[in-house]
Amino acid sequence: MAFSISQLFSKEAKSVLGVDIGSSSIKVVQLRRDKGRVVLETYGAIALGPYAGLEIGRATALGADKLGEALKDVLREANVTTQDAAVAIPYASSLVSILKLPLSVQKQLATVVPIEARKYIPVPINEVLLDWFVVSDTKKTSPEGKLEVLLVAIHNDTIAKFRTIAATAQLQTSFFEIEIFSAVRAALDRGLAPVAVADFGAGTTKFYVVERGLIRESHIINHGAQDLTLAAGRALNLTVMQAEERKRKFGLTGPSEVADLKKSLELSISPLIAELARTIAAWEQRNNQSLSGLVLTGGGATLKGLKELMQGKINAEIRMADPFGKTAAPAFLEKILKEAGPEFAVAVGLALRRLQELG
Ligand SMILES: Nc1ncnc2c1ncn2[C@@H]1O[C@H](COP(=O)(O)OP(=O)(O)OP(=O)(O)O)[C@@H](O)[C@H]1O
Ligand SMILES: [Mg+2]
Repeated sequence: MAFSISQLFSKEAKSVLGVDIGSSSIKVVQLRRDKGRVVLETYGAIALGPYAGLEIGRATALGADKLGEALKDVLREANVTTQDAAVAIPYASSLVSILKLPLSVQKQLATVVPIEARKYIPVPINEVLLDWFVVSDTKKTSPEGKLEVLLVAIHNDTIAKFRTIAATAQLQTSFFEIEIFSAVRAALDRGLAPVAVADFGAGTTKFYVVERGLIRESHIINHGAQDLTLAAGRALNLTVMQAEERKRKFGLTGPSEVADLKKSLELSISPLIAELARTIAAWEQRNNQSLSGLVLTGGGATLKGLKELMQGKINAEIRMADPFGKTAAPAFLEKILKEAGPEFAVAVGLALRRLQELG
């Protein structure tokens, strides 16, 4: 059979794209494998606020047409050159729960899980895409001697919406993945100890616990980074745009001239930190073990001084996610990539999985 040299090398040279369509911005990351290394080719983000008549940094609820348009724009601005994409599905558009099943059904999961799932899913089962993973350690069953299965359901309409968005931007989607799985791949190192992740998005904050690389528990908190901006705007009599700019510029670490800003930001983030601290304490008590740390992701995590503030209030080692640390990039970009990294965790995680698939 004839084959060309370029075919031989095409596997090597394939660039892939991770696409994270968040509520406030779309993030894209293009990676390529080169001599065993994962090379960062390009990345970019575009704020969605302006497509919805809102300010930058605000959460939006846009339809597929506007999102497709914004995706096209960011692909152009970031000079993306591949159409081979993987796309994240928002956690809020999915249903993730843990099923506890008798050990005896281990060999019949393909029939048992869809039946059990009906108890957890509020819509007809044929309207959703179901996926599941066994998460209990098979050598060490759960305290009740049950098989624990992580159940994931995504509504068909959601998949259809994201398919349309990708198609509008002429991307070929190899897979869709719920964002928390992508973030875990990019933000955590392989390890056995349980670790928590908090994703500070614009409208909401997601919290999950990961053990042996598997998600054990997940919550969504209806408080996000945009709330800090809105509160600062009200407190300091600034427009939302001004408040957002100052929040990003100074965060919690500004000079004394911006002490009011700092006070306002601290005041509005405190309930969220307290809720995370409570969630962690409750998890540790329930499982009778401590978490090895809390990793921060999402654009809101890049708030200057946040890590230090949280460290004083949460009884677990706080670390910033460093997804670009898993990629090779020019040295002069190192600092910028470390700082921006948390925002791109989901997009990096998607592209990493696609590269793994291509082998
Ligand atoms: N340098 C910064 N300092 C403080 N906050 C920031 C900074 N950069 C971005 N943010 C905030 O991060 C938020 C956006 O984060 P991110 O892009 O992770 O959200 P999203 O993915 O769009 O939202 P979600 O995941 O909830 O759908 C915005 O509300 C913005 O104000
Ligand atoms: Mg997000």
